[in-house]
Amino acid sequence: MQLRPKTQLQDGKYEIVEKIGQGGFGIVYRAYHQGLQCDVCIKEFFFRDLCERVENSTQVSIISKSDEKIKLVDSLRKKFVKEAQRLAKFRNQNIIQVMDNFEENNTAYFVMEYLEGGSLEDLIELMGTFDEPKTKRIIMPILDALEAVHEKGLLHLDIKPANIMLRKDQSPVLIDFGISKYMEIGGGYTTTAPIGISKGYAPLEQYGGNVADFSPATDIYSLCATIYKMVTGITPPEPLQILGSRLKSPIEIIPKISFDFSEIVKNGMSVRANERPQSVSQIKDLLNRQQKQITIEQTKTNEEIIVSSNFTKPMAKSQDGTKKFLIFLIVSVLVFLLFRYTNLWKIDELFGIPGDIAVGLTFGSIAGYGPTN
Ligand SMILES: Nc1ncnc2c1ncn2[C@@H]1O[C@H](COP(=O)(O)OP(=O)(O)O)[C@@H](O)[C@H]1O
Ligand SMILES: [Mg+2]
Repeated sequence: MQLRPKTQLQDGKYEIVEKIGQGGFGIVYRAYHQGLQCDVCIKEFFFRDLCERVENSTQVSIISKSDEKIKLVDSLRKKFVKEAQRLAKFRNQNIIQVMDNFEENNTAYFVMEYLEGGSLEDLIELMGTFDEPKTKRIIMPILDALEAVHEKGLLHLDIKPANIMLRKDQSPVLIDFGISKYMEIGGGYTTTAPIGISKGYAPLEQYGGNVADFSPATDIYSLCATIYKMVTGITPPEPLQILGSRLKSPIEIIPKISFDFSEIVKNGMSVRANERPQSVSQIKDLLNRQQKQITIEQTKTNEEIIVSSNFTKPMAKSQDGTKKFLIFLIVSVLVFLLFRYTNLWKIDELFGIPGDIAVGLTFGSIAGYGPTN
């Protein structure tokens, strides 16, 4: 079904290395850019339900002879090209960069930067869970990317760990602006193409499939569900399951994450869209404010440590005094016993009193309380 390794595209400009993914609308390849001598990623339009590859050929053909179906494939291919053109207009380092597009083999292609770091989904699989700072390091740049998408009046509609990829330097990149997912806000999107549902990441309104119900809050749900997966390692339940019972807060699963962060994620996953933050800038503000709060608390804790360490000085002084007094007492007793029992000094004779009483008196005088005489 896919192009074979070493297949040349654009008269040898690109050479297919391997297939790396396939969804409902396209096949993704790693390819080699002969001119630039580097890997690139090529996405080929291939509507799985209605396309096939002519045997022993690179050509794509439409399975059906029905005019309606041929028209559908044609319109989806046009949208595929349009989306690539739209994507190419973004100059955002956290949105996948489109480098080229062309038509060949009776289908359409676009060429993207090849991301070597794998997907966030792979990374979660590897790491289990992410702590709060690491989660934010990945999510904050993705929020910037999403804000840029919404500013252009578009929605992504399929944010999930598999659609966040990493560069070699671990910087995150939002990918997969597929035709079923990339819609104009409030725009008249009229295709019979099924709208993809990514279980655990799609909010309730996406199950309804009514484009008029979609808004930036739709993407915000998916983004918070992605954070949920990162911090807990658990794929969130579907919205209907949440309605039936309730969503466990991230903090109930991982107690070491902060309460405020957990609440931001949980609110972002409200089943009712109007109960979520309504814009990316709102959720960014919440996360930034919460981060500031953490920093203030950390500074306070550090100050407390400094203050309490200052208190240890007088305490140490008094402890030191007690220690000196005890040493003094022990030395006194030892000196006295030495004198008393080695007869170095006939103490009873000196005072002219019975020995037993002299012991008490001398001990007292050594300690500073003896007869002043
Ligand atoms: N630019 C890229 N660099 C490297 N791998 C990529 C790139 N784009 C996509 N992929 C890989 O191909 C898979 C499918 O691509 P995606 O655009 O998400 O299409 P689909 O609609 O099939 O999910 C991704 O999960 C990822 O593994
Ligand atoms: Mg994808």
